[in-house]
Amino acid sequence: MRYLGNKRHLLGEIERAASGVGFRRGVVCDLFAGSGRVGRHFRASGSRVRATDLMACSHIFQKVFLELPGPPAFAMLRERIDLPSPVGAERVAAALPADADRWIPTRRALAHLEALAPVEGLLTRQYTPSGASPRMYLTEENAGRADAMLLELRRGLGAGDLTEPEGMLLLAAIIDAVDRVANISGTYGAFLKKWHSNALQPLELRLPATVEGPVGEANRRDACAWIDEVECDLLYIDPPYNQRQYAANYHLPDLVARIPFEPDLDALEDSIYGKTGLVPWKESASVLCSRRGTECRDAFASILERARAGAVVISYNEEGIITRDDFEEMLAAFAGVARSRLGKVLHEIPYRRFRSDADGRVSSLGAERSYRELPGRKRNEVHEWLFSVARSR
Ligand SMILES: C[S@@+](CC[C@H](N)C(=O)[O-])C[C@H]1O[C@@H](n2cnc3c(N)ncnc32)[C@H](O)[C@@H]1O
Repeated sequence: MRYLGNKRHLLGEIERAASGVGFRRGVVCDLFAGSGRVGRHFRASGSRVRATDLMACSHIFQKVFLELPGPPAFAMLRERIDLPSPVGAERVAAALPADADRWIPTRRALAHLEALAPVEGLLTRQYTPSGASPRMYLTEENAGRADAMLLELRRGLGAGDLTEPEGMLLLAAIIDAVDRVANISGTYGAFLKKWHSNALQPLELRLPATVEGPVGEANRRDACAWIDEVECDLLYIDPPYNQRQYAANYHLPDLVARIPFEPDLDALEDSIYGKTGLVPWKESASVLCSRRGTECRDAFASILERARAGAVVISYNEEGIITRDDFEEMLAAFAGVARSRLGKVLHEIPYRRFRSDADGRVSSLGAERSYRELPGRKRNEVHEWLFSVARSR
């Protein structure tokens, strides 16, 4: 799915940074897993990945990318339902192994979900123009089809027709499909006021790009607490770098991830509020997004102090809350060397800033963002930071 801060373009750089501090393969902890792409990459190259993130949608992707042992059989569902022909081979992610035939039961389960008639559920009532609070995130047709799929998952998991890994795999495909037709520009912090062409496409399920490798571990825990429970060869840390809370910007995929498991769907729906249909999130706001005093820096420093890891790689952005100076000080402490002996720990990667207002789309937020130009740089050029260091022996 489209995810802010997704490191899919930096996987090679991250791997180089890890091998630069002596890591080949072993146990990797990914503390801010997001889309799960980094963990998936390390799993594919033979590491056991343990990950966490506060977001429910991230948890589903972690489950599929890190824990799925192989293609599920969908035996119980097949027993109950005469599953239709599989969705086309073009819906299979390129990353899957050549023996993709083992995925035919999954492709048939996807076809079963796609064939369901639309129903009026939570997504239709809350995130389409026809709801009591009209919100233009999804067309009624796509929301109704997604509602039907989610209710079928809820039923299948409850009745034992689906195992947990099977349910997670289908759910990841639904989150991804809804994301592709969501009427947004960038994040879910606002919906567009006119339908974007993507949003008018029919909802289409694709097989998530799973990989094979050691079975890892998915979590939905606060990294600031979870760090005490883990030990690893490589710690990968990619926290938010500004005040934008993910919970307020990805509420719709998060809700989709929760619908099949939520004990009381009516209470969940009743809690939805505001112009963009937020779900109450302030209690789980991340301290890593805080600009209050030194809260953010202190939380990060505390993670590094408590980390039981042989080496660390950190992704951050030069426009972020924590300064380069602070990072170097924390990394010297982690490595157990004097700051003056730290050596080169930073690799800078230039990129073009993504601007959601660049193509003139108007959203429910209305206003355009203004960005500070950085001295000596091209327009919209910013640097991604990649710090890496090993503990001294
Ligand atoms: C920059 S994104 C990570 C992107 C990820 N590396 C990827 O490639 O998709 C930061 C993530 O940190 C998560 N997060 C923020 N505070 C957290 C916390 N205290 N514990 C766990 N996850 C947190 C957010 O939900 C978000 O998914």
